[in-house]
Amino acid sequence: MDRREFLRIAGASGGLAAAGTTGLLAACHTNGAGFVRSDGSVNGWLYRPTTASPNSLTLTAHQATVEIAPGVHSPVLTWGTGPIGPTIEARTGQRATITMRNELTEPTIAHWHGLRPPEAADGHPRLAVGSGQSYEYDFEIEERAGLYWYHSHAHNRTAPQVYLGLAGLFIIRDDAEDALSLPNDRRELSLVLQDKRQDSSGKLVYDPFGPQLMEGFLADTPFVNGIRFPRVEVDSALYRIRVLSASNARIFRVGLSNGSPLVLIGVDGGLLDIPAQLRHIDIGTGERADLLVDFSGLPAGTIVRLQSQEFPSPTRAMGMMMGGGRQGMGGAALPQGSQMDLLEFIVSREVRESRQIPKTLVPLVRLDRAEASRERVFRFNSMMMSHTVNSRSFDMSRVDERVPFGATEVWRFVNDSPFPHPIHMHAVHFQVLTRTGGRGEVFAWERGWKDTVLVFPGEEVEVIACFDRHRGMFLLHCHNLEHEDAGMMMNFVIE
Ligand code: C2O
Ligand code: CU
Ligand code: CU
Repeated sequence: MDRREFLRIAGASGGLAAAGTTGLLAACHTNGAGFVRSDGSVNGWLYRPTTASPNSLTLTAHQATVEIAPGVHSPVLTWGTGPIGPTIEARTGQRATITMRNELTEPTIAHWHGLRPPEAADGHPRLAVGSGQSYEYDFEIEERAGLYWYHSHAHNRTAPQVYLGLAGLFIIRDDAEDALSLPNDRRELSLVLQDKRQDSSGKLVYDPFGPQLMEGFLADTPFVNGIRFPRVEVDSALYRIRVLSASNARIFRVGLSNGSPLVLIGVDGGLLDIPAQLRHIDIGTGERADLLVDFSGLPAGTIVRLQSQEFPSPTRAMGMMMGGGRQGMGGAALPQGSQMDLLEFIVSREVRESRQIPKTLVPLVRLDRAEASRERVFRFNSMMMSHTVNSRSFDMSRVDERVPFGATEVWRFVNDSPFPHPIHMHAVHFQVLTRTGGRGEVFAWERGWKDTVLVFPGEEVEVIACFDRHRGMFLLHCHNLEHEDAGMMMNFVIE
């Protein structure tokens, strides 16, 4: 229905100019065909990718031209037919047998972010396949219910490939989640948050230059599920809304325009033990939040915006000091920490029902520092156009750390640079123990099982993980895609 609506509106409003920043921040009004903003652009409807089972699935990476806003077409790279890949839906314990075909003109490889498959199925960049080739994945899905995702992990090409569409959602469900009777079907939405830039004809452009390669590519226009600033119809009821940041560099401070609280029920590695009520949640690239949002009692016609709210960002402050005005230090059109509207919920149907938010969710095992056999320190730095971990740039075949199979360790991530780094580990889920310096606390959205954690300038973040899934070579890296492509990544071997 959303898709059909979208096409109908697209037909009625061909050839619209790209939305500028002012247009995006301006109020909307309604006409017969859709929802027109002050610059004349029309909102598209939220794209809901087709769903696919991981069993005997073929994902073909290819270039396609798709509609990314009403009447606006752009070349993209995709594993499906839309601007992002199909949503893979699985249950814990299921087997994944996936063929990834590469019909691009350059190498690529798919990585299942947050899943912990054996080395051969993890999508390490050294496993990338060339144009016309395929890669076969065969692994068991062992993760708890949660929102995971998959994306390109091609060496030096992850940033452009993910930006242009080589990303999709991977939803895992299990019995513990079923028992909670969370909102589902139409009342469950999964949102891929990104920022992109369009040229004057509306086509996506990826063109970071000098300073943007240092800070990471910060664009000016919000995209959700690959569609520019979309809108979605909701009932006046409780919804489960899951968000993923799949941006290149932007951190989203997710909140609602009407000031309603978000109820956080899960993070990267699945559900929390108890829900937390919050005004906003910060997510860096790769991080996810599982939320309950209550639209109950809102009259039909009410518009609530999902926003990224303003937050203090070191590079934005520096840019202003250096006379850059709104420009960040990296010359970004919309600096890190700027307010950005992401999506509009429009209440289209009033319903009367009362659904309770569960008081408790799923029990969590806490890892204790006393169980750790060793602590390692990783320093992340960005200097002179290079991005390093412990002063080294990524080498695909060099082994940087060796970890005994089965060990529990504390890893300390230290940010020596002026940019935030979302640090991601393959092969494990971790728990955040401490944050010192900078923001100086572990936030409510960092409880539970994580695979990515934001480390701001001047911060040290300690995480604890047990390396007990598979032996083999895995990655630790910054998930800012420009930083990752420039070498802020290293190999560890579990042996
Ligand atoms: Cu989301 Cu190494 O990746
Ligand atoms: Cu990953
Ligand atoms: Cu980084």
